[in-house]
Amino acid sequence: MQRIVLVTGASRGIGAETARVLGARGDHVVVNYREKRKRAEVIVADIAAAGGSASVAGADITDPDSARALIESTAGEFGRLDVLVLNASGGLERDAAPEYAMRLNRDAQTRLARLALEHLPAGGRIVFVTSHQAHFSATRPVPNRYEPIAASKRAGEDALREMIPEFDSRGIGFTVVSGDMIDGTIIVRLLERRDPDAVTARREHGSLPTVEEFATAVADATTAATAPGHTVYVGGRDFALPAAENGW
Ligand SMILES: NC(=O)c1ccc[n+]([C@@H]2O[C@H](COP(=O)([O-])OP(=O)(O)OC[C@H]3O[C@@H](n4cnc5c(N)ncnc54)[C@H](OP(=O)(O)O)[C@@H]3O)[C@@H](O)[C@H]2O)c1
Repeated sequence: MQRIVLVTGASRGIGAETARVLGARGDHVVVNYREKRKRAEVIVADIAAAGGSASVAGADITDPDSARALIESTAGEFGRLDVLVLNASGGLERDAAPEYAMRLNRDAQTRLARLALEHLPAGGRIVFVTSHQAHFSATRPVPNRYEPIAASKRAGEDALREMIPEFDSRGIGFTVVSGDMIDGTIIVRLLERRDPDAVTARREHGSLPTVEEFATAVADATTAATAPGHTVYVGGRDFALPAAENGW
């Protein structure tokens, strides 16, 4: 049976590429966007042109009513929801309020996971997308002005990990995919302006992963047989040294 996969923040960047990869693999992909509907429609058209199926679903996931409507309309329209990819993230926006990062990167993530639990079948999967700068923020330096994002994304990861017993009891898998700075993304271009040394320092450890590499790892995490709460790392092997986690 064709899986119904919801990818949050799939109108651009890593979410958009993850949607393309999953669409090419035969899933029906629900491409969530906040405000860039036209961009989301282009992703859906790309997936359809490649022989796949996808649809758009606008929702600001920090808004509780919109988040509920997103999950309910997906499950209602397709009769099921098999995979939730928690990719949407933010907080570096120029007009963002100080508490916005926590609302988006922690509260909205756990809310969506809770809402999805009402529909995900046993064998379903939740994947949380994060950055090494956030995942390792307790032990590694964080680029200037990325601190609130790193703290909120790590808080989101921790809050989701606290839900693992419930995921487990329902037979739902939970995987975290953490990436180094990803080449060519808007976030890295922003960081390059705000803290060029931090980006240069990452490049000194080797080339940064591409959007395609990271998106493929996220797509793979929706099917791989892994232990609950397993973390997949993409690039930046030096981040985990000397205390490598999960045999990385
Ligand atoms: N870029 C990197 O170097 C890097 C490295 C490691 C991990 N990651 C992780 O990968 C994920 C994607 O990063 P990215 O660089 O591709 O991000 P991005 O280019 O900034 O795209 C963010 C996406 O999230 C959506 N979005 C933002 N706020 C939203 C909200 N309140 N509700 C719903 N959707 C919202 C945006 O939609 P609209 O455009 O419609 O507003 C957009 O589609 C994030 O979790 C990030 O932490 C990124």
